[in-house]
Amino acid sequence: MAKYFKEESRTFNEYLLVPGLSTKKNTPENIDLSTPLVRYKKGKKPTLTLKLPMVSAIMQSVSDDSMAIALAKEGGVSFIYGSQSIESEAEMIRKVKRYKAGFVVSDSNIRPEDTIEDLLALIEKTSHSTVAVTDNGGPNGKLMGLITSRDYRINKVDLNDPVSMYMTPIDKLICGSTKDDLSTCNDIIWDHKLNTLPVIDDKGNLAYMVFRKDYESHKDNPNELLDDEKRYIVGAGINTRDYKERVPALIEAGVDVLCIDSSEGFTEYQKDTISWIKKHYKNMKVGAGNIVDAEGFRYLADAGADFVKIGIGGGSICITRETKGIGRGQATAVIEVAKARDDYFKKTGEYVPICSDGGIVFDHHITLALAMGADFVMLGRYFARFHESPSALINFNGTYYKEYWGEGSTRARNWQRYDLGGKGGFKFEEGVDSYVPYAGHLKDNVQVTISKVKSTMSNCGANTLAEFRKKARLTVVSSTSIVEGGAHDVVVKNNKLDNQ
Ligand code: IMP
Repeated sequence: MAKYFKEESRTFNEYLLVPGLSTKKNTPENIDLSTPLVRYKKGKKPTLTLKLPMVSAIMQSVSDDSMAIALAKEGGVSFIYGSQSIESEAEMIRKVKRYKAGFVVSDSNIRPEDTIEDLLALIEKTSHSTVAVTDNGGPNGKLMGLITSRDYRINKVDLNDPVSMYMTPIDKLICGSTKDDLSTCNDIIWDHKLNTLPVIDDKGNLAYMVFRKDYESHKDNPNELLDDEKRYIVGAGINTRDYKERVPALIEAGVDVLCIDSSEGFTEYQKDTISWIKKHYKNMKVGAGNIVDAEGFRYLADAGADFVKIGIGGGSICITRETKGIGRGQATAVIEVAKARDDYFKKTGEYVPICSDGGIVFDHHITLALAMGADFVMLGRYFARFHESPSALINFNGTYYKEYWGEGSTRARNWQRYDLGGKGGFKFEEGVDSYVPYAGHLKDNVQVTISKVKSTMSNCGANTLAEFRKKARLTVVSSTSIVEGGAHDVVVKNNKLDNQ
């Protein structure tokens, strides 16, 4: 006879936290949200720790290099989508790794023999008024000079004059060296009252530009997640088909952590993939999933997964439960798997972090997932709304939206995520193509979300996530108390579209 689970399959919306004693020490400034990203042994520290318990979903419409940089600045990690060619995924990883906070690869460059008319056309295109003059007009050519809007008067110049007539030539320029760190470059900027410092290598080729304004913003990111070489940490999605080619290319590009992306991860394919990676790249960290119960967790933990992702059918763009009738309420799944993780730690001395993936609608769902035991959460819709996501910004009758589509939609055609062995290919949809209201920049939104999480943790008397899990007291809510939880029996002014 089939097994029937005793408890109902519940979602985050069906729970509330009940406050505990808050001491005077439980202030938001004292709350630390750092959390392990990968497996570690009792008494040891994980090799990768998040400073923000949020990662971005392995999806075409969510995680590219821009998202990865923006999120790593806040202390989280993006997993760049794997449903693209190996070369283009590796190139996105390289872009993140090349990006040095405060060091910008110049995207406005011109040759000395180009004309002022060419220069104006370039400025129109890039909107940057400071342009590097290099021998080949490329970002890494030999630096010949710099030209800014202060060097020429638009109504006095002949548009056919060459740029070289007006630029500040290299022998009059103050430059930094690729051996300088950001604070040395910043000292040069201040000492010489510069706005821009070109940074050149020992052959005189342009490597980066450092802008005064970027140094200021670098100081605004105290939680940024960096590797030993001060480059941003970045993750990548892989599948169980082409991993023998994809994984080496991603490692070569500098990826820090991998995650097998699958709608259903309790499979031999995942075990084989993990074994192969561990055999060939002993130190490479790889997450696996998705699963929704203790059995699935133990299988992947035993297979060597460095973290395990939970969630089937809860994603905002997901129609898996409707199409296939499988899945589990996200809250119930997280609660069961968190217990399995703790039991596994007691039994084996290995802590395997768990990630709650999908189904976060309100910010407080993140808090609930963390209280129920998730070490961190993965979000798609949440990040898709931001300026930094890869999808198009669209204006409908004066309101801005971003596009957001599932990996199981015909648009993404990511059949490897839904792989059932055999020949493969895309047979039916498990996701939809949609719009989400545009919400501005990642940083502003994440900061609001985090202040809500910290506020609730403070109400529950917890200063760390481990403490929060121990102290949290949760109650199931009735449908009428859900109604009571929102504004009710009043006419709300300025009803916001985006119900965060
Ligand atoms: P969201 O944060 O609720 O939007 O859910 C994002 C999560 O949904 C992802 O991290 C995936 O686990 C999952 N997902 C992505 N694309 C699809 C799809 O097409 N069908 C089902 N689930 C999907």
